[in-house]
Amino acid sequence: MAKSTNPTSTMATPIKSVESDVVEAKLSKDGLDAAGRPMPVYADPAPLDRHGPAWVLAMCNQKGGVGKTTSTINLGAALAEWGRRVLLVDFDPQGALSVGLGVNPHDLDRTIYNVLIERDVSVDDVLLKTNTPGMDLLPSNIDLSAAEVQLVNEVAREQVLARALEPLLPDYDVVLIDCQPSLGLLTVNALTAASSVIIPLECEFFALRGVALLMQTIEKVQERLNPRLEVEGILATMFDPRTLHSREVLARVVEAFGDRVFHTVIGRTVRFPETTVVGEPITTYASSSAGARAYRELAKEVLAR
Ligand SMILES: Nc1ncnc2c1ncn2[C@@H]1O[C@H](COP(=O)(O)OP(=O)(O)OP(=O)(O)O)[C@@H](O)[C@H]1O
Ligand SMILES: [Mg+2]
Repeated sequence: MAKSTNPTSTMATPIKSVESDVVEAKLSKDGLDAAGRPMPVYADPAPLDRHGPAWVLAMCNQKGGVGKTTSTINLGAALAEWGRRVLLVDFDPQGALSVGLGVNPHDLDRTIYNVLIERDVSVDDVLLKTNTPGMDLLPSNIDLSAAEVQLVNEVAREQVLARALEPLLPDYDVVLIDCQPSLGLLTVNALTAASSVIIPLECEFFALRGVALLMQTIEKVQERLNPRLEVEGILATMFDPRTLHSREVLARVVEAFGDRVFHTVIGRTVRFPETTVVGEPITTYASSSAGARAYRELAKEVLAR
């Protein structure tokens, strides 16, 4: 990372856990996906000879801790491995996306917040390169929490992020926006800037609670602000094929959303919390792990859709 150091770099390097491939093997047994549907074989994405204009995706669920940030980092890194130019936008004042990429948000003088609020700050002033080739970051920190209040009196307050990102779109193939766990003005800005939404759902009992409200919000944004917006897919995360509970929750999610549920499912593994500590994507931290392979597969599925 260009400007910062990993805030957690003083911590001891975590011992890499021993993880069998049991989880992944069970996910794709007999050509079926984890929900028992036929698993399509996705071709490797074709190399690109030129880049842009970017396809903008928002990673959105107002429920906390469902894997939005983890999916933003690792889907982004997997897309970059396939030669896509990727921009990650940290749109959560917690700055977890920035931390997960080794940036200490508290050290930053200027973040996406300044781009939104101050006319003389441009996205180029804030843009950081990550250690993943082809993947850049617009970081955020706690300052962004003030934007929600400050933007209220702004003209076209829902379009501020879309306007800020516009000059960058020709340079990237994919922009991924990591939303905060709320349906407030920041998230509405993300949904207005995006053409697609990915909804991560944790495979546990309350997974579907709140999704109806999220869908209503998406529909309102479609009607009033952004008619191009589409739900790209529902991503099941933290799936544990060994528990009946996880399998039942996944079955209910597929029952409710059908084909909109990605065939690729992200298994539960301690490797993901470990990646936050080291500040890098799983695709480099544990390149051949089941988790890394799952996000590479998701990248192929997203590009094939
Ligand atoms: N597949 C997984 N297996 C195990 N742990 C995971 C997995 N995905 C994410 N986690 C862990 O779960 C926690 C929450 O994940 P993450 O931060 O990605 O969720 P989030 O939806 O962005 O949360 P928030 O709503 O707070 O922004 C983190 O500690 C992360 O490391
Ligand atoms: Mg998050």
